[in-house]
Parts: sequence; structure tokens; C-alpha cells
Amino acid sequence: MALLRRTLLLLLLIVTHQFLQFRIAFGSVNEEGQKQEEFYEELLLKPLPDRKLLTHFHFQNSAPPSTSNGRHHHLFPKAISQLVLKFQVKEMELSFTQGRWNYESWGGFDPIPSSNAKPPGVELWAVFDAPQHLIDALWKNLTHTLSGLFCASINFLESSTAYSAPEWSFPPASGKLRYGTLPREAVCTENLTPWLKLLPCRDKAGISMLLDRPSIYRGFYHSQRLHLTSTGSGSEGMDPGIILEQTLTVVLQPDSQRASLAHASEKHFQPSWSLSSIFGKQISGRCVLAETSNVYFLLDKGLVAELEHIHKENEKSEENVLISEKFWNNPSFELSAKPDRIFIEESSLLSKNASVLYKFEIEKYGESEPFDLGLFWKTPVVWLCQQAPLHANRFLMGSGNERGAIAISLKSTQSSEGFMGSNSNDERCELRVDVFQVVPWYVKVYFHSLQVFVDQQPKAVSDIIEKIHVSPSKDKVSPGVMELVLTLPCSVSSAVLTIEFDKGFLHIDEYPPDANQGFDIPSAIVSFPNFHARMVFLENDSLNKSPLLSKFQEKSPVMSYTEVLLVPLTTPDFSMPYNVITITCTVFALYFGSLLNALRRRVAEEERFLKDKAAKKMDRIPLLLSKLSAKLRGRHLEGPQAPPASSSFINSKSVLKVILIAGLAVYWQYYFS
Ligand SMILES: *[C@@H]1O[C@H](CO)[C@@H](O)[C@H](O)[C@H]1NC(C)=O
Ligand SMILES: *[C@@H]1O[C@H](CO)[C@@H](O)[C@H](O)[C@H]1NC(C)=O
Ligand SMILES: *[C@@H]1O[C@H](CO)[C@@H](O)[C@H](O)[C@H]1NC(C)=O
Repeated sequence: MALLRRTLLLLLLIVTHQFLQFRIAFGSVNEEGQKQEEFYEELLLKPLPDRKLLTHFHFQNSAPPSTSNGRHHHLFPKAISQLVLKFQVKEMELSFTQGRWNYESWGGFDPIPSSNAKPPGVELWAVFDAPQHLIDALWKNLTHTLSGLFCASINFLESSTAYSAPEWSFPPASGKLRYGTLPREAVCTENLTPWLKLLPCRDKAGISMLLDRPSIYRGFYHSQRLHLTSTGSGSEGMDPGIILEQTLTVVLQPDSQRASLAHASEKHFQPSWSLSSIFGKQISGRCVLAETSNVYFLLDKGLVAELEHIHKENEKSEENVLISEKFWNNPSFELSAKPDRIFIEESSLLSKNASVLYKFEIEKYGESEPFDLGLFWKTPVVWLCQQAPLHANRFLMGSGNERGAIAISLKSTQSSEGFMGSNSNDERCELRVDVFQVVPWYVKVYFHSLQVFVDQQPKAVSDIIEKIHVSPSKDKVSPGVMELVLTLPCSVSSAVLTIEFDKGFLHIDEYPPDANQGFDIPSAIVSFPNFHARMVFLENDSLNKSPLLSKFQEKSPVMSYTEVLLVPLTTPDFSMPYNVITITCTVFALYFGSLLNALRRRVAEEERFLKDKAAKKMDRIPLLLSKLSAKLRGRHLEGPQAPPASSSFINSKSVLKVILIAGLAVYWQYYFS
């Protein structure tokens, strides 16, 4: 017995020792590898002035450069790392968008619209880290791979007519960039599911649990984006580090409970909402694989200023209510949960207004106590979001199927603050605007016809356009690309660029289905390189831990997309085959109809035929002779009328047959079954 106990003890010791060793070994790998694969999940909520709510999901997954990882990853999606390796992608962005970002009411200056407002349909751009002659082949193969990964027709971007190589107007300017869009691609859940599969927790845990498909697709705008950057490997044989950033931006309309109360002032009340009322779900705990799991609630600059104003009027006190002790239950609104931290934007030099950000850590919440942030407005508020210096629109001019013109109109948004920020120290204040426009080859643009109007006055092109790069389209080979740098005076109130074009002819099999709908000209990109959409929040330590907030700090130029244009082209008469089919069918119907008719009426026909024959025989002399003989015999000549007796005889015969067959069938049925 004692022996047995001793062996058991020994075994236990060995097992414990092994286990401890394993633990130590595992731990040391963690420490030795220094950088691990990391995953962060964040959600930003922001009320918009037109009673809507912006929800911005941000997931970041990063794999450090390594040799040890080899082909194995703990969290990072393997498909993406293979894609980066195989196609030597340095930077890539793919977005699927439905709806159009409303720059007027949802703002155009913050980091969210400048990097997440995307043109409708699919947009893909990629920078390759490969020799120049290989890039087109890599791009083609990349489009096919992405097409398979995301269940979308991205492979249509393979054709050289569908992509272009911007030289310098597209922000990550580089000669190794390829850019393509598919404005008509429909975006649906089948694109979202593969996107979610790249997340370590899918949509089963953490913030992504909120992604309820019906709520998302009911929204006014949704854009699903995937951005990857490969941080080049230092030494040979090392796999590059990759940062994969996945964002989903949705603009939703919360159902307002007060909608029924039709009061004049109620119109200005923002709708109150909660996560469960917009998504029908709550966050029951974080994704355990995530380093941090946070929800942010952002109050826009304008809104903060407005709330402070309201508060000062009511309380006559100078203290800033939004950061005081009872901030989350202030006279204007009430948050259902207490934030863990408050960040205040570091106000820029000229503006005293600053955004306020409330942070909620999901770690504290769990299955028993799910996180459900709610906002209840107590007073009506009206504010405006910060706008880009100029508001860009694009439209078509001209009529008919032969020629037309494209006009890009830039209107000042009167945000003097932004203007000052650019070149205030120079005597001559100038506003730099970059325009990037791709036109399909069948829209044949005449670049010499470019005209510029500033404040409705025609201006010499050379006065306004500082730099221009044009690559004319080649029929069925490449699209036309126009890159412009405009320098406008800061006092400009409107500027219009117009350019004329001829409409080309396509081969019949180049037409897409429903060609009469028209052809899409992709959105033009208007960017303001002197303005940076940037939000810096006064906080030190935890900032490094939030990829979303560090993203906000990056200096990215303010960018906006114009509308997609619909150009009607001459289309062949696609109803022609239909007409041919109809006529052929009619002819066949006539033929078979008469044939069947003839077959059905054969007996009667034959009789008539015989009669006719008989009548013919009795022509003239024979007729006279027969008449004579008939007279002689004292009988009348029989008329050529069909004898009703015979037909009735046939009828009765067929009726008899039918009855016989029916009788047989009944007999069979009755006796043999
Ligand atoms: C692209 O794919 C084709 C077919 O798989 C292959 O033959 C070609 O080598 C690939 N090109 C590059 C640059 O990888
Ligand atoms: C701050 O916001 C208020 C209200 O929107 C506005 O009137 C004021 O001009 C802003 N101040 C600055 C310096 O932008
Ligand atoms: C940030 O860190 C610096 C020094 O590292 C410190 O002086 C400053 O007070 C910190 N700011 C905040 C808001 O904590």
C-alpha cells in the first residue's frame, strides 16, 4: 500500500514538473518573441446633426515581422498573410460601400469621413513592392484572389480598361500604385461574412456581436473596409510584419420614441437610443483574444460648443460640465453607463472648441451584465459638423447621344477657420486642391477643352492649374486619367471645371446587362493636401494601446469623393432578337395551325374534293349530257352540297368508338385493379 502511494506521489511530481516546464517554456517564447500577434476591437459612436447615429467598428490585427512564425499564425488570418507574401503587397485597401456619405450633414473634415467615406460599390487600390514590369501581372492576380476571398466581382478590375495608375494625386502617391473601382457592384451580406471570418472571434464574441445584418443593411450608409500595410522586413528570410485594419462604418437612424409627440420644438430633439435598440443586441463580454476591447462615444466639436452654451445659459457657471463629476448625467443628455475615461481633444491653436470622447471598457462586462450603452437627450440641440474647405459636386452637361461635358463644381463651405490654418503667414493666401478623375475609354474626353471658372468668371487655365497630368484613354485598352493641382485664392466662393467629351461606341458583347440604365463614371477624388484631418486626444499611456485613437492622430489629408455619374450611351436595339423570335413563332403558329386544321377536317375536305372532281367531269358537254339523261330518266341532278348524313354517320361512328374505349377503360379499371 505504502509502495503504491509512493509511486503515485512520484507520478504526480513528474507530471507537475512536466507541466511547470511546459509553462515556463511557453512563457519564455512569449518573452523572447517580444512582439506578439495582437488584436484590438473598438467601436465608436457619434451622434450626427441630422438625427442619425454614426457607428464605426474598428478591428486591428497585427503580425510582427518574424522568421519563427513561418507559416503559422495565432490570430492573424492566414489568407491575408499569404496574399501579402505572394503578391508583394506593400499597402492595400479594399472597400465595399452602399449609399453615399452625406458630406454636408455628416461632416467632411474629421478623420472618419476622410478615411472611411468611400465611393459606392467597390474601390481597390494597392501599392506593390515589386519591379515595375511585374506590377500589372501582380495586380491582375491579386484581383482574382480578392474576388474569391470576398465573393465579389473584383476580378472585373483585372481588365486594363478598369484600372489606372495615378502618379501623384492619390494620397499614398507612388509609381507602384494601381487603382480601380466598380461603381455598380452591389454590396450584401455575402461580402460581410468573409470579412468577418478574418476576425479571430468572428461575430461570436466581443464587439462584433453587434453586427446584426438586418440593422446594418437598413442603414443609410455602410462601408466595409479592409486596409493592410506590410512593414517591410529588415533582413532577408524574414516575413514582413502586417497590420490589418478592418473597419465598418454604418450610419443608422435610431427609432425615435418621441416621433409620435408632434410638437414644434420636438423636431430638434435628437432621438434617444441604446445599443440594443439600434442593433437589437448587446455586448456580452469582450472577445478574449483581443488586447483591448473598448467602446467610445464621441461628441463633435460643434456639439460640445453647443452643449456648453446651453449649460452656461441655464446655470450661469463657468465650469465645463462635460468633464465634471456628473458629466454623464448633465442637463442636456444622460448616458446609461458611467464612462471609464474622458478624453478631451487637444484644441488646435486657433479654435477653442474641442471634441470630447468617453471611453467604456468592455472588460468589466460579461454574460450576466451585458454592456448596453444608451443615450437620452433632455434638451433639443442643433449643431453642424466641420466641413472640408470646399464642397465637391460633379454633374453632366449637354444632351443627346453624341457629346456632353463633365463639370466638377467646388463650393466654399465658409469654414474660415480651416482656411486660416493653411497658409496664413503668406501674404497671398492660397488653397491647394488635388483632383483625380478616371474616365472609362468610351467617354472620350478632349483635354484641351478644359475650362476653369472661378466665382463664375472664366479664368485662364494656366492661372489656376499649377500642375496637370493627363493620360488619354486608348480604345478598349486603357481608361483616361486626369490629375490636377489647382491653386485657388482663399476667398474663393465657387470654382467650376468643365471638360467636354464624345461618347464612344461599344461592341455588342461589351454592353453590361441592362445597358439602357447608362454607364457609370467613377467618382472623382478631391483632396486638400494642406489640410489634415486629425484629432489628438490629451492622454498619454492608454493612447498607444488604442489603434483607433492613434489612427485619429495620423496626419491624413482631407479627402472627399464626388458622386458617380450615369452617362447614357447609344445602345443597340436589344429587343431585336425578341422581335425575331416573335415573328418566327407567329409564322410557325400559322403554319402548324393551318396544318392541324387541314388534318382535322380531312374527311370533309376529301368529300368536297371528290365532289369537285365529279363536278369537273360533268363540265360543259358531260354536264349537259347528264342533265339530258337525268331529264330522260325523270330524276333531278344531285347538288354539290355535302351530304349531312355521311358526316353525322362519321360523328356517330367516332362517338361509338369513344364510348367503346371508355367502356374498355372502365372495365379494365373495375376488374383488374
Ligand atoms: C499570375 O497568375 C498566373 C496564373 O496563375 C501565373 O502564371 C503568373 O505567373 C502569375 N503572375 C505573377 C506575377 O505572379
Ligand atoms: C466653436 O463652436 C461654436 C458653436 O458651434 C461656434 O459659434 C464658434 O465659432 C466655434 N469657435 C471656433 C473658434 O471655431
Ligand atoms: C503626458 O506625459 C507627460 C510626460 O510623459 C506629462 O508631463 C503629461 O502631464 C502627461 N499628460 C497627461 C494628460 O497625462
